[in-house]
Amino acid sequence: MLKNNSAAVQEKAVRLIPGMTQLLSKRPDRFGRGVWPTYYKEAKGILITDLDGKTYLDFSIGGIGATVLGYADEDVNRAVIDVIQKGSASTLNAPEEVKLAEKLIELHPWAEMARFARSGGEAMSIAVRIARAASGKDKIIFCGYHGWTDWYLAANLGKKEALDEHWIAGLNPNGVPKGLTGTAVPFRYNDIEDFLLAVSQAGDDLAAIVMEPLRNFEPTQEFIAVIHDTAKRKNVPLIIDEISAGFRICNGGAHLKLGFQPDMAVFSKALGNGFPISAIIGREWIMKSAQDAFITSTNWTERTGPAAALAMIDKFVSNNVSAHLLHIADMVWKGWEELSKKYAFGLHIGGFKPLIHFAFPENHLLYTTFFTQEMLKMGFLAGSGFYAMYAHTEKDVEKYLCACDAVFGRLSEHIKNNNVEKQLKCQTAQAGFGRIN
Ligand SMILES: Cc1ncc(COP(=O)(O)O)c(C=O)c1O
Repeated sequence: MLKNNSAAVQEKAVRLIPGMTQLLSKRPDRFGRGVWPTYYKEAKGILITDLDGKTYLDFSIGGIGATVLGYADEDVNRAVIDVIQKGSASTLNAPEEVKLAEKLIELHPWAEMARFARSGGEAMSIAVRIARAASGKDKIIFCGYHGWTDWYLAANLGKKEALDEHWIAGLNPNGVPKGLTGTAVPFRYNDIEDFLLAVSQAGDDLAAIVMEPLRNFEPTQEFIAVIHDTAKRKNVPLIIDEISAGFRICNGGAHLKLGFQPDMAVFSKALGNGFPISAIIGREWIMKSAQDAFITSTNWTERTGPAAALAMIDKFVSNNVSAHLLHIADMVWKGWEELSKKYAFGLHIGGFKPLIHFAFPENHLLYTTFFTQEMLKMGFLAGSGFYAMYAHTEKDVEKYLCACDAVFGRLSEHIKNNNVEKQLKCQTAQAGFGRIN
């Protein structure tokens, strides 16, 4: 076990913060508790320095997808520092939010209005509130992951494992009012039959169709057509959750490239390059219902979020960042493929570029924990997922793949000798979000 600054802070965190962190995916037990550094002192580009002064190249999940340009991006920081110095909160409103509304509508010409919040899950709740306010109806049919709030977790009230096929399994609906049972009905991505079943379960009480534009696969044109046709026939909004997918494969929502025509779209993560901002954009007929609902919060008016978003978008568009992200992710994908062949691992490689992952066909958690542990020794933060950032260079990828080669080589030997577990100096990574003690 670590006996250093990081270990001391982790011990305190477990006592003082239930669940240890505010985003469960940043818990060390997701990677290898005992070796994963967990806390950072500084982050710049793709470099992260931990509390013990050790610096790593980040080839893991890049701020869980929030820092699409890289850590402490100079252009975004400059814009944020400027508004901090001019006052980041006051009695009056920040004009940057109006500019951001204009900018997002310019990039998504189908949209006419925008609202802002500060995190992804709450922005999805706002979108759902607007849709329910507009229709006077309650039921939401959805696929994919949409955050921590009641409307979504309600899906697990009826059938405990309803959400298991939607990215994160085992989500606990404790604390969600049981009265919400049946108000959120899941359907499988690209599965027209399952979608139509959800539509019929919602019946005349359908308020909205909610989905991510893609997660592991691209949508089929038939699936998109049935979704559009149903939204039109039932006169309900199609809400596309771009929180993870947006500002990766093109300048704005992935739906622009895939052929979806939403009525609302929701952004966060990449939008602020790590500063807190989320946006709900939409057609006027649905967005104006926000005026007849009560949707308001003090910190949604602070100025750093929209200033960061404007600077991020400016840089993303003018540097053709999406092309770079796709190129970097492609290099890593191909590198994993080659190494998988070399060591006969039979890795499953998936996700959508630039957010990709690999999985071992057996003993996945054990083998990736070994991988993480050994990559840390070689100066990399690495797990089975990789989120490309603009700050990653081809040279960085070459160094990373070289380290992967060495570590996969050692892993292959240990697998042959059936002694991988014995090599671990930490707990095996956990897939879910169980209690942490
Ligand atoms: C598609 C999608 N929706 C919603 C969320 C929740 O966003 P946040 O963690 O900012 O609340 C996430 C987070 O990973 C996401 O990927």
